[in-house]
Amino acid sequence: MKHFLDIDQPSATDLAGIIRHARSMKSARLGRARGVRDSAQPLSGRLVALVFEKPSTRTRVSFDTGVRQLGGEVMTLSGAETQLGRGESSADTARVLSRYVDMIVIRTHRERNLLELAEHATVPVINGLTDNTHPCQVMGDVMTFEEHRGPIANRRVAWFGDGNNVCSSFLHAAGQFGFSITLACPEPYRPGEEYVAYARSMGAAVTLATDPQVAAEGADLVVTDAWLSMHDTEDLRNEKRECLGAFQVNDQIMAAATENAIFMHCLPAYRGEEVTSAVLDGPKSVVFDEAENRLHIQKAIMRYCLEV
Ligand code: CP
Ligand code: NVA
Repeated sequence: MKHFLDIDQPSATDLAGIIRHARSMKSARLGRARGVRDSAQPLSGRLVALVFEKPSTRTRVSFDTGVRQLGGEVMTLSGAETQLGRGESSADTARVLSRYVDMIVIRTHRERNLLELAEHATVPVINGLTDNTHPCQVMGDVMTFEEHRGPIANRRVAWFGDGNNVCSSFLHAAGQFGFSITLACPEPYRPGEEYVAYARSMGAAVTLATDPQVAAEGADLVVTDAWLSMHDTEDLRNEKRECLGAFQVNDQIMAAATENAIFMHCLPAYRGEEVTSAVLDGPKSVVFDEAENRLHIQKAIMRYCLEV
């Protein structure tokens, strides 16, 4: 049984295989209506629980759609409507859900909840985002980059703004896929040292930049995310806005990157804060391809976990 907890866990070969599989499933569906099932139905007879302890549009809808396209059935639960919301442990929840369903996708707060769930589940568990990482997102991002610009190995990624959960998964991906990454994050908002250390230990060049303009130079991919994540408290808003303001992705930043650079954002985006409308809605932005690819990559991740 395989879980999908973080990008640093599977082998690089398995990760590349997941991306290839996602691309082939995507092209097999070209021109078909979204609601139509795939011709292969590998999840037929299987039931997947989607547990969301935080809000979600893309993750929730893309997993639900993906399970149905693969012929399976899905149930979506919010943390508040389960006993998780009243303090039942992740371990007991895992033992119980494993008696009913064939796979669990969970979006939760602390990483230790995810790890405890995975440790005690007897069915595969997929990380749908924690305060620390967002691996399904970044797998979709790597797929999207490669669709537009070819292999990501040896390319240069520049991350702008808050060194958050998505940024940490980019550091895992830098290590596994072999790209270099520049972190244009002010000092208080740099990602955890363990993620930087992991990428470096895998041979990826990680540069900590202070000048956003310099950070963008030579970048093939410019990425940012909302300044305030779901796990941040509202009282951080003004402080973050002030500290991160200089790291906004705008036309000057994109002009400093390579001529062929593309722009990504996991969404939801806050136009005028971390990114201008001109960039988000401009010709270099691939944000809606990114959102679409969540569907394809997660289908491949679920098939990897279930070995079907
Ligand atoms: N990018 C992403 O995970 O979006 P949701 O929060 O809408 O799922
Ligand atoms: N960093 C964001 C990602 C949302 C998909 C958050 O955790 O809120």
